[in-house]
Amino acid sequence: MNLDEKVGQLVQYSSGQPTGPGTGRTDFNDMIQKGEIGAMFNITTAREANAFQRVAMEKSRLQIPLIYGLDIIHGYRTEFPIPLGLAASWDPDLVQRAARVAAREASASGIRWMFSPMIDIARDARWGRMAEGLGEDPYLVSAMARAYVLGYQGERLSAPDSAVACPKHYVGYGAAEGGRDYNSVEISEHTLREFYLPPFHAAVNAGAATIMTAFDSLNGVPTSANPFTIKQILRNEWGFQGLVDSDWTSIAELIPHGIANDPATAARKAFLAGVEMDMVSSFYHDNLANLVRSGQVPETAVDEAVRHVLRVKFALGLFEHPYADEKQEAGAMLQPESLDLARTAAERSFVLLKNSPLAGGSLLLPLPSDAKNVALIGPLADDAAVMLGSWSAQGRPEDVVTLRASLMQKLGADHVHYAKGSDITKALDEQLAEAVKTAQDSDIVILALGENASEMTGEAASRAHLGLPGRQQQLLEAIAATGKPVVLVLFSGRPLTLPWAFEHVPAVLAAWFPGVQAGPALVRTLFGESNPSGKLPVTWPRSVGQEPLYYNALNTGRPAGNADLTKPPSGAADKYISRYIDEQNSPQFPFGYGLTYTNFSYGPTQASSAQLSAKTLNDGLRDARHPPSSDLTASADITNTGTRASEETVQLYVRLEGTSTAQPVRALKGFQRVKLTAGQTQRVSFHLGPDVFALWDDQNKYVVESARAKIWISPDSAHGSEATLDITK
Ligand code: NOJ
Repeated sequence: MNLDEKVGQLVQYSSGQPTGPGTGRTDFNDMIQKGEIGAMFNITTAREANAFQRVAMEKSRLQIPLIYGLDIIHGYRTEFPIPLGLAASWDPDLVQRAARVAAREASASGIRWMFSPMIDIARDARWGRMAEGLGEDPYLVSAMARAYVLGYQGERLSAPDSAVACPKHYVGYGAAEGGRDYNSVEISEHTLREFYLPPFHAAVNAGAATIMTAFDSLNGVPTSANPFTIKQILRNEWGFQGLVDSDWTSIAELIPHGIANDPATAARKAFLAGVEMDMVSSFYHDNLANLVRSGQVPETAVDEAVRHVLRVKFALGLFEHPYADEKQEAGAMLQPESLDLARTAAERSFVLLKNSPLAGGSLLLPLPSDAKNVALIGPLADDAAVMLGSWSAQGRPEDVVTLRASLMQKLGADHVHYAKGSDITKALDEQLAEAVKTAQDSDIVILALGENASEMTGEAASRAHLGLPGRQQQLLEAIAATGKPVVLVLFSGRPLTLPWAFEHVPAVLAAWFPGVQAGPALVRTLFGESNPSGKLPVTWPRSVGQEPLYYNALNTGRPAGNADLTKPPSGAADKYISRYIDEQNSPQFPFGYGLTYTNFSYGPTQASSAQLSAKTLNDGLRDARHPPSSDLTASADITNTGTRASEETVQLYVRLEGTSTAQPVRALKGFQRVKLTAGQTQRVSFHLGPDVFALWDDQNKYVVESARAKIWISPDSAHGSEATLDITK
């Protein structure tokens, strides 16, 4: 390979639907023939993929196949719930199976590189990309990251239906100041290691073959030119052997970031920091060979980067099988098992936030299956496109079954009285009035409100206001004023601050954006054929002013403790503490929270030993062959005290006190889904390995220190009984 051909392997362009600012380059055939392009994306049919591939394989000198990528975030043609919804399932096995379906469908179109999973820790609901990620907690996001990678990459990458994963955005992108997309990020090394890096480490350990850097500047150094995160941590500490890709023009953006005054400097800084492929900006295309010729970039480094690209192509078997089978493409999509899985995933993603008894004493949900006179109101009751969520790849509105369609099928068209009531962002007075009349004439109202997926969630969709858009709040209050029992089904890519709704509406279901099977999954859930069992993967705030709000925060030196924060401070004792004078500290709903149609009671948390040795735990941490004690466990009895069988996600939390660095008030360290029949009690046990007690110390080392450890086995991050253990030297 000559130098220009090597550089060509490090160049990636977008053809088709742009997903960022334009670049003006369209002479792809010519560039491919000259060996100037190694990868392409935003191509979505086998025919187009094969057409460019033919140029690479038949007309370029070296006949190196192209690799095709795409943002396949929660499905290719079979759209699953948005990732935040998938995370709410707390079911990594389900997520792995969904990822497998996505890889199977995408590879049928010739796409073997998924720009996913997005595993940025997101603590701020203003950030639109919270929808694309898996929540706020490093443990949960790591479990999901691993599931995605295993699902995409399958048992072997060379299988024609496997695709390489690309965990993104490395790293810290989700901590954008003020929740404003692309904004700067300041994260100490300690916090980076404790919260933001673990999901990436988990993805790398699961075998992720590529990784994407980010747009943000991290502590002043843009992550697409950051040797500390890429060279030191990713390569040296974790031993990552795969390919590092930039984000869309993130190399060109080093100029506006202010660390390069010209394209050549931007290319040099990014490349020397370890970014191997240039997505879209063309800065490597135009400058990298000259940087080598002028001695500013060693050719050996280019060789190493090219090796990483070629290894991915070899591993995928692209040299032997460069083309997609155009005849098989259509048949791979929307297979019945894929749709079944999409429905199950949607059902498992729903989080029941509230379910109150009606006047007669029975709970509003589930609804009676013989309901006869149901009003269905709201802009999202019949909006197929919004159900797909943001980044919906090849998802098509015509593939979606809406809530309205499913409800009519369930109850019969005569028993469903539909009124849109409002658009998402605007409403006419007559629309509102018609909806109120429809509610008045019905026995039960299902109200489908929320955000517009593509405009209000995802990339470049940060919001400063987190209420219902347009006149939907007015619609909600007008419908509630009819006095009819109202079930609010909330569609959103983030928690919305709706204190009025949570106070006045008897039943609220967070449905996120559920994907192609939205309607069937919702109807089965609302009528009790499926029990909601999702739990929040993010903290749900009361008001925007609380953001960023997350459960695994530090205690501070002046914690609010038991002070009554519903009232303004009345004296020094409840004033000079960490609080707002006009809002509570607590969220509307804590991380991990979610109701179901039965109740679970939790017995006391019990540890098998009250004394642990830091030395033994450290030995186990450093060398897996020396587990401290495989029978060290925490257990609790969980009882289904209600009248229905249901699943519960049991959670294990830990807090360490007396350590060299302040540790979170709680940190998730394990979870298990258990299924209990009515009245059944099951003892749920968690193995307590060294990682449960390890922390990043004041020297940024991962160790177990002597400490007091509190543990909880609980239904969410705010409840449960506590057990205490002593970790001694
Ligand atoms: C920019 C986004 O940040 C990234 O997530 C995506 O993969 C690329 N555009 C490509 O579309």
